[in-house]
Amino acid sequence: MSAQAAPRGRNVVVVGTQWGDEGKGKVVDWLTDHAQGVVRFQGGHNAGHTLVIKGVKTALQLIPSGIMRDGVACYIGNGVVVDPTHLLGEIERLEGIGLDVRSRLHLSESCPLILPFHVEVDRAREALRESSGSGKIGTTGKGIGPAYEDKVARRALRVQDLKHPERFAAKLRELLDWHNVALTGILKSKPLEFQPMFDRAMALAEQLRPMMADVGYLIHQAHAAGQNILFEGAQGTLLDIDHGTYPYVTSSNCVAGNASAGSGVGPDQLHYILGITKAYTTRVGSGPFPTELPIDAPGTVGHHLSTVGQERGTVTGRARRCGWLDAAALKRSIIINGISGLCITKLDVLDGLPEILMGVGYELHGRRVDILPLDADDIVACRPIYERFAGWSESTAGITDWDRLPANARAYLERVQAFIGAPIDMVSTGPDREHTIVLRHPYQA
Ligand code: GDP
Ligand code: IMO
Ligand code: MG
Repeated sequence: MSAQAAPRGRNVVVVGTQWGDEGKGKVVDWLTDHAQGVVRFQGGHNAGHTLVIKGVKTALQLIPSGIMRDGVACYIGNGVVVDPTHLLGEIERLEGIGLDVRSRLHLSESCPLILPFHVEVDRAREALRESSGSGKIGTTGKGIGPAYEDKVARRALRVQDLKHPERFAAKLRELLDWHNVALTGILKSKPLEFQPMFDRAMALAEQLRPMMADVGYLIHQAHAAGQNILFEGAQGTLLDIDHGTYPYVTSSNCVAGNASAGSGVGPDQLHYILGITKAYTTRVGSGPFPTELPIDAPGTVGHHLSTVGQERGTVTGRARRCGWLDAAALKRSIIINGISGLCITKLDVLDGLPEILMGVGYELHGRRVDILPLDADDIVACRPIYERFAGWSESTAGITDWDRLPANARAYLERVQAFIGAPIDMVSTGPDREHTIVLRHPYQA
């Protein structure tokens, strides 16, 4: 006898396809009117996701962008590294603008913690790399890399340890000793003290406890009850620890596959993968960037992208490096993520440029290469090969209908789509929730 299949929800994963800051937060917020839960599955508060709702801007770092919609549940999955001080600060900031956060936020007990020595090690190591001439990564300085190192080395403190003061104290002593040796011996920095760190963690634990949960199981139950879940990626595919421009990457897997491992949801429950792609490219921090343009001189394309696009980091305030869209790099992201469809963002930033270029491959040591190489040194040696398009003088800002886009803008997007072999299902024409064109809705595809 066959059992009647229960109604199951539909799950969508949103990932960045470039070097981060593609506009993931805006798109997640927009899609959340079709979802009852939003999950972060990797990264930490190195992310900066900006949402604009009716002209009011909110920046989120660790809390899923679903928090801006009443009644939507928010989950921080096991793949995320959590700084408890930052998390509570972000909760209080959102409560300050009238949001109900604590009853809707579920924090996985399995998340590794970011503790003060991780931040210290991150910063001291960057300083050392710079002074020794090996060149810094340009991290956000939030302790992300060192926290993931401890997780993989199986010595991390996790959210669940906060429930057990004695266990927490014993593990903290051991881990602190380890890091103090590195800080004083190799990194020429000062050691940190146990007691203030322990006292602070225990005070924060009291507040975090009601939000601690078995997140994978909660999502499973929500999904089985017919709820739609949205998985919110942070960073971008080219910053992925395995697939990015190593070592100029972050320390987690940012690709769609990690939505499963980083939250405890089976891969067969990921139904549609939406790649977010800026109509040009930006990068914060060091590392190769073949289509990069100089941004300082007024009147140049780089300056246009930087200023019109307001390309300044949400987390660190650093100017983002800017350049043309690199479709040969995008091609790799499409493959790795198994992209179902793309959302092209910030199309409006290209308005008024007489000519638009798109990277379609590279010349590398006299040979033509049609996809981004894997070795960062090879990427440095790549000279981009461009296709050229006529620009448009009309404004696309705020357009919500594909047919109202200038013909040249449509031609550019159609060429991008043909080159990468994945459909453009959405286009974003402004920072506000409403500034969105939908060709195929990810929840109805
Ligand atoms: P994320 O990290 O991928 O969420 O992206 P960020 O929030 O760091 O950076 C994207 C920036 O572009 C934010 O300031 C957004 O408000 C803004 N933005 C998003 N989509 C658009 C768009 O279509 N047009 C314009 N002009 N700005 C956009
Ligand atoms: P969202 O989610 C852009 C970059 C840093 C640095 C590298 C390693 O807003 O797109 P880390 O502190 O993670 O060890 O830094 O990764 N980086 C980002 N760049 N957007 C982000 O997040 C980023 N998160 C980390 O600039 O180059
Ligand atoms: Mg960002």
